[in-house]
Parts: sequence; C-alpha cells; structure tokens
Amino acid sequence: MDNKIKPREQWGSKIGFTLAAVGSAVGLGNIWRFPTRVGDNGGAAYLFVYLIIIALIGVTVMLAELTIGRKTQLNPVGAFRALSKKWTFVGAMGVLAGFVILSFYSVVGGWTIGYIVRSLTGQFSGDTTELFLGLITNPGEPLLWHAVFMALTIGIVFFGIKGGIEKASKILMPALFIMLILVIIRSLTLEGAGAGLSFYLKPDFSEITLSTVVAAIGQAFFSLSLGMGAMITYGSYLNKEENLIKSAAIIPALDTFIAFIAGLAILPAVFAMGVAPNEGAGLAFMTLPGVFAQMPLGGFFGFLFFVLLFFAALTSAISLLEVVVSFVVDQLKWTRAKATTIMGAIIFVLGAFCSLSYADAKIADVFIWAGEPLFDLMDKLGEYLLVIGALLTSIFVGWAWKTENALQEITNGGKFKFGLAKVWSVLIKYVVPVILVIVFFTYFGFLEI
Ligand code: TRP
Repeated sequence: MDNKIKPREQWGSKIGFTLAAVGSAVGLGNIWRFPTRVGDNGGAAYLFVYLIIIALIGVTVMLAELTIGRKTQLNPVGAFRALSKKWTFVGAMGVLAGFVILSFYSVVGGWTIGYIVRSLTGQFSGDTTELFLGLITNPGEPLLWHAVFMALTIGIVFFGIKGGIEKASKILMPALFIMLILVIIRSLTLEGAGAGLSFYLKPDFSEITLSTVVAAIGQAFFSLSLGMGAMITYGSYLNKEENLIKSAAIIPALDTFIAFIAGLAILPAVFAMGVAPNEGAGLAFMTLPGVFAQMPLGGFFGFLFFVLLFFAALTSAISLLEVVVSFVVDQLKWTRAKATTIMGAIIFVLGAFCSLSYADAKIADVFIWAGEPLFDLMDKLGEYLLVIGALLTSIFVGWAWKTENALQEITNGGKFKFGLAKVWSVLIKYVVPVILVIVFFTYFGFLEI
C-alpha cells in the first residue's frame, strides 16, 4: 500500500489499540521467562529492581517508541529513515531482533501446544520434570508444534493486523488473569509454598548487584516488547487523537502486573515441589502441571490455562513477525503474502535449530556451541539486540530528533497535558542512555559483573 495515496490503516477503536499493544506485551515473557529470571537471580531482590526499572526505563522508552511510530506512521526502518537518514540502521537492527527472538519464542509457543495435548491425555499427574524433559528431548514432537505455532502466526499476519489481534485480546487478557488467580490460590496453599513466597517477596537488598540490574533490564525490554520497534509499529497505526502518555503508562502497568502475578503463581509451587528455582527454561513447565494435578477439576483448568497461554504467546508472536513483515512490505515493496510466508519460513528454520539444540545428546551436539544450546544463545542475542536498540532509540530521541520535537508529537501540539515532560526529557536524554551504556559494557566484558 502506498502511504502517500491511501491513508494508513488505523485501529478500529481506541480500546482496540491498547488491547493489541497489551496483547503484544503480555506473553511467554511474563509467564515463562519472568519467573525463570526471578529464580535465576535470587528472587525478591530481583523483583524489586525489576519494578524500578519498569517505571524508570520501561515507561520512558515505551513513550519514545510509540511517539516515533505515530509521528511517522511507518515501520521502524522507514520511521527512523523519515526522521533522520543516518539512523535507518536502528530500525534494521530491530528487524534482525524480530528474527532472532521469534525463532526461539515460537519453539516455546510450540511447547504450550504440546502441553495442551498432554492436558487432554491426562499426563499432568505424573512426574512433571519428566513431563517437560520428555517433550523437549524428543526431536520430532517439539518441531511439529513449533511448525504449527509458526504456521498460525504466519496465517494471522498474512491477513492483516486489525481483525485477528484486536478481537482475540479482548477475551484473552481477562481470561488469563482469572486463570492465574486460580493457580495462585492453589499454589499458595500447597505444603512448602511459604518458602517460595518469601523467596519472591522478601528482598535481601544486600543481594542486589550490577548483574541483577542488567538481568532486570533485559527482561523488562523483552516483556514490554521494547527495543526492536514493535511499539513503533503499533504506534504507527495510531491516530493523532490518541493520548500517548496514557498508553505508555497503561501498557507497562498491565504487563508488569501480569508478570508479577505469574511469579506469585509459579514460585511458591516451585518450592513446594522441590524444583530448583534456577532450573532454567523449564521452570514454569515443570511446576504448573503439578499445581493442576492437585486442583479440583485440575484437568479442565490445566487445559484452559495452556490454551490461554498459547493465545497470549500467539498475540506476542504476531507482533514480532509484524515488525519484520511491515518492513519488507513498506521498504522492499513485497506483497504482504510473499513477505509473511518467506520471512516466516526463514524464522521457522532458525527456530527448528533452536528446538533441536535441546533434543537428546546426539542431535543437540550439532547445535550446542561453546557449551551453550543455540536456543539459549538466541535468547541472549535477542536480549542484547533489544538493549542496544533501546539505547540507540533513546539517544536518537534525546539528541538527534530532539525531545522538543518528540514532545510536540506527544502532546499533539499542546492538546494533551504532559506534566512530567521535563522528567521524561531528562530520563530519555541522560538517565536511560547512561544506564544502557553500562549494561552494554557488561555484555562485552568491559565491566565485571
Ligand atoms: N513481550 C512479549 C512477551 O512478553 C514478547 C514480544 C513480543 C517481544 N514482541 C516483542 C519482545 C518485541 C521483544 C520485542 O512475551
């Protein structure tokens, strides 16, 4: 579609945008990745740091991305190029991040399908650690689910952004919320849950180190879908009447709330079941089935939970693929159909290698480099790209495009009041870049953590 002739497709309703953006943010990052990171990084101290990071950095960068998107009405690459040619590469990096993240994300999305099937065949009552390992070490089955997950993501992006996502998110979010509450009730009443609760909620501040902060920042961007232009893309479908400030506050608030309650649902169960909190990628998958097994109507609720988790993952995956596709459509002038299928297929292959890197030894060997499975490497690389993307975005808005111009767009020329304009300007210009540069240095070993 030529943007100069036809007006760009816009959100059907205000609530539609917020729901879709929340649909992008809330996903496996909240329910699978967040509790894993809490477990890896010592519990409550990490949670404490995470909440501060969201408020300080997450909200700031969220507003910056939405603003760039609405101002330019373009995909990330086009958006940066429209504002300053020199910065086009930041958008391109985002497209790369989309590839990297969706590859392993889709594998985990596939695991949720595997679990839906297992809930139906009554397999939640046995050893849950075995249940998870049985799935991922088998080379074929996770590949099949990854293919199904990717095919569905491609199918939805193929048919355009509005219809699918908007409708799905309206039912999905509240339903997921209710399911999590049910899981929390059961999880907290398990014997031995108390230790998990204090692990999660009683911080020992002496445990906070630079590495806690670095881990929290990477997770914050991942969970909020920031640092790769997803929110630029979403902002680009927004009209000028929308209050960006409100959106930049509501999306992180809802996303963080869901992550918080996911931790409350999973970590007490982790301790009650004697799973190590730093178990890694399997943490949620090894504990949740056990919670359902001990719940009245657990078979049914377990099924429902994984169906909802699957949909939450799908709405997030859509936003990842959307960044890649809208770039190819807008910049290379491919048709949407061609862009979606070809890009989706490449991501599928990359993800297949990630999946195989967890398979049983002989096969996995090929995909384990320097002692780390490709899956973990992609996860790490994705996080690096997000942090670098957010760093460059903040420098761009603060110093190249300039905060005055951004504020002009945010307030729609003074129409919306923005009491914290000064605070936001200082954050995006100085605070966020300085902190992210420090994180960047730790990634490359210039700073010990
Ligand atoms: N935020 C999503 C989640 O928590 C994942 C996601 C979707 C994402 N789009 C993104 C992460 C863009 C980073 C960038 O599951």
